[in-house]
Amino acid sequence: MLDQQQFRQLMGRFATGVTVVTLAGENGAPYGLTVNAFTSVSLDPMLVLICIDKKVGGYELFKPGRGFAVNILAEDQEEISNRFATRDADRFARLTYRTGVTGAPILDGVLAYLECRITRAYDGGDHTIFLGEVKAGQIEEHKSPLLFFGGRYGHLATTER
Ligand SMILES: Cc1cc2nc3c(=O)[nH]c(=O)nc-3n(C[C@H](O)[C@H](O)[C@H](O)COP(=O)(O)O)c2cc1C
Repeated sequence: MLDQQQFRQLMGRFATGVTVVTLAGENGAPYGLTVNAFTSVSLDPMLVLICIDKKVGGYELFKPGRGFAVNILAEDQEEISNRFATRDADRFARLTYRTGVTGAPILDGVLAYLECRITRAYDGGDHTIFLGEVKAGQIEEHKSPLLFFGGRYGHLATTER
């Protein structure tokens, strides 16, 4: 039998990139959190998924029809990843960003971003799986990605990309 800690350790062997998912918040105040449960799903139509813990502070903002942006972090954005994963941090302070077509913040200096509209929500245990239809996106910087592996940040050993 596998316990939760072993499951977490096993899943940590699966290397991922790191994103910050942002939305326009209530009263114009933006919201965002660090997310590595992000996957492309379909090309036609263009769909991605994100898995969001039902306990996150901005959970109620994730509703069908709402826009969100997936900001793919560069290797020099570890501090941003930590900030968007820390409760009560003033996440957008000292950050420069612009507002995308969905109203979601696009962070400066990211490798790339996708803007999506939530089309479906599926129950996923203590998380909810949100399917997003991709509306826009762009490669922003030709830098190396921030990686997450074994519960730690990592960097590509090669500079080729
Ligand atoms: C590398 C990394 C990846 C994460 N991936 C996810 C994720 O995919 N889904 C999620 O709900 N939380 C994820 N988290 C945790 C949230 O970013 C964190 O709990 C955040 O503080 C939640 O926002 P809140 O403080 O507004 O509740 C991740 C954290 C880190 C450091």
